[in-house]
Amino acid sequence: MAKLTDIPKVFMNGIAHSTISLIGAMVVTVVFPFLLGAALYDTFLHIENPYVSGFIYMILGPTFIGGLVLIFVGLFFAKGEEDVRIFTLEYLRTKLEDESGFDRIRKLVFLGVFLTCINLFVVGILLYSGYHYMESNAFCGEVCHVPMTPEYTAYQNSSHSRVHCVECHIGSGASWFVKSKISGARQLFAVVGDTFSRPIETPVHGLRPARDTCEQCHRPEKFHGDKLLVKDKYLEDEENTHVQTVLLLKIGSAGDRAAGSHGIHWHVAPENEITYTATDWQRNEIVEVSQRSANGATLQYKTADADDAIAQATHQQERTMDCMDCHNRPSHVYLPPDVAIDNKILEKQISVELPYIKQQAMQVIQGEYQTQREATSAIASGLTNYYEQNYPQIFAQKRNLIEQAITAVQAAYTENVFPEMNVQWNTYFTNIGHANEGGCFRCHDEEHETAEGKTISMDCDTCHTILAEEERNPEILKNLLGGN
Ligand code: HEC
Ligand code: HEC
Ligand code: HEC
Ligand code: HEC
Ligand code: HEC
Repeated sequence: MAKLTDIPKVFMNGIAHSTISLIGAMVVTVVFPFLLGAALYDTFLHIENPYVSGFIYMILGPTFIGGLVLIFVGLFFAKGEEDVRIFTLEYLRTKLEDESGFDRIRKLVFLGVFLTCINLFVVGILLYSGYHYMESNAFCGEVCHVPMTPEYTAYQNSSHSRVHCVECHIGSGASWFVKSKISGARQLFAVVGDTFSRPIETPVHGLRPARDTCEQCHRPEKFHGDKLLVKDKYLEDEENTHVQTVLLLKIGSAGDRAAGSHGIHWHVAPENEITYTATDWQRNEIVEVSQRSANGATLQYKTADADDAIAQATHQQERTMDCMDCHNRPSHVYLPPDVAIDNKILEKQISVELPYIKQQAMQVIQGEYQTQREATSAIASGLTNYYEQNYPQIFAQKRNLIEQAITAVQAAYTENVFPEMNVQWNTYFTNIGHANEGGCFRCHDEEHETAEGKTISMDCDTCHTILAEEERNPEILKNLLGGN
């Protein structure tokens, strides 16, 4: 009959007799101190390096739990069974019927609970820190998602760079967490097997509806009204002339106490529901739009060839319009080449003292390159050669401005183009406005008509008032801002 003091011995014997348990015990002994130390450190002080935390939670953690499982399997299902029979149900059953053994049983149960608590504590810390780790930007953007460089870079340059990836891509609630991890596991295989698509296809079809993500922070009814949009541009002439386009964008609101829904954000007012049918995966070919108002009245707009298009559609889909149909690039903002360069000029990283710099930058930046490295060296040699040959005096006197411009043009390229992932200029474009094939004109083209002949308006004043278009020192800005 085993005594309480025999328990450790019994365990040791059991482990020693079963190879499986022995391996498990070795693993646990080696891993435990590192793991506990690292997990405690991360919980209280935070480990910055994503690869270190990746190692802890994706390798050490599972190894530790695997070791425990091995010990358990070896002891209770394999060779160790003989030795640990005092912990088996059968043993307990006989003991429970024998009053004289109650005291020992109590101690055994106590010991069992105590050991389980320690294990639960360690596993709990692991799960807690591991969960936070898997929700971190570093995990999404750097470790797991090697192919995520374009998105991560474009994200860091956006106004949402302080919003965690998971707040838009997963949102709250256990079911979306599980869904995302299942699809994450599939993506992991794609990364390991190198079968992911380059570029990653958009639009993202499994994206959670905006009301669970965007609208957790932004409340459509509370949107500020119209907005003065000033676009600074530089022409491709010798002086790199600065011009401005000024628009009053009628953003309106989705309705608040003072006024009903109106303007651009009218689409997302709670009382309106706009659904549409697209015939392609990209949702650029919209052939039917239906608009339901508060009173339940529904308007159906169709293009003339809608029925044929639907019959031949490769990817027919219906969708209820939400924020993402316009704000498809709230966070991964890839600029078109002209805007990328204009921004660098605005930031004074490219000097307008260099003649034709806008034009030359546009040329080198739009070359066909296989890698970012090839692009940056072509940009450097292209601009250097140009000034050396055409403006030797400037090349001699303003060498530092040229160097600075080269760095900025290189940055404009590497922030937006990722040849390694087949992300070129305009691979990903925004649906805000109508500069691209997508955008507002997918519906607002006067070609979607109801049976009564009502169309979706393309009137230029529906969405904005154009106050100045590519003007030097526009009068309107002087009036609005005062001064000269
Ligand atoms: C403000 C919300 C928001 C945040 C924060 C955000 N995303 Fe996105 N992301 C989106 C939306 C919306 C799309 C869908 C674009 C589309 O369908 O065209 C998207 C698309 C993507 C895509 C598909 C490819 C592409 O460029 O459209 C990837 C990959 C991605 N996000 C990764 C990330 C990673 C990694 C992070 C964190 C570093 C992150 N996202 C943070 C909103 C967000
Ligand atoms: C966790 C909160 C949060 C979530 C989720 C969020 N946003 Fe934002 N968003 C912000 C904040 C804060 C700002 C202001 C940032 C600033 O101006 O510095 C902002 C700014 C914006 C802007 C104006 C700036 C710009 O880039 O044009 C738009 C548009 C926008 N958000 C759309 C969205 C959309 C669409 C989604 C869902 C895909 C979303 N947001 C999700 C917090 C959030
Ligand atoms: C019909 C297209 C459309 C839809 C749908 C839409 N927006 Fe917008 N939104 C716009 C446009 C256009 C602008 C102005 C963009 C600019 O400043 O260049 C804008 C501006 C914004 C701004 C910035 C306001 C400012 O003053 O700078 C925020 C924030 C925003 N939208 C959030 C949202 C959210 C959240 C949703 C979903 C509830 C949403 N939008 C739905 C088109 C849309
Ligand atoms: C999926 C189709 C669709 C897309 C895409 C779309 N709209 Fe609309 N929009 C409609 C419909 C339908 C109406 C109602 C008919 C009308 O007023 O012409 C409407 C109405 C409007 C109105 C008038 C709202 C009011 O005050 O009554 C504005 C402004 C507007 N849209 C702006 C935009 C802008 C800006 C974009 C692009 C960023 C855009 N829309 C993209 C379908 C769309
Ligand atoms: C359905 C709404 C809508 C209609 C109709 C519309 N626009 Fe726009 N337009 C926009 C939006 C939104 C932007 C702002 C894009 C941005 O923020 O970059 C814009 C931007 C512009 C710009 C500035 C572009 C730039 O980058 O410099 C011009 C110019 C312009 N529109 C002209 C027109 C003209 C001309 C018409 C009439 C044929 C028209 N628009 C009709 C929504 C519309």
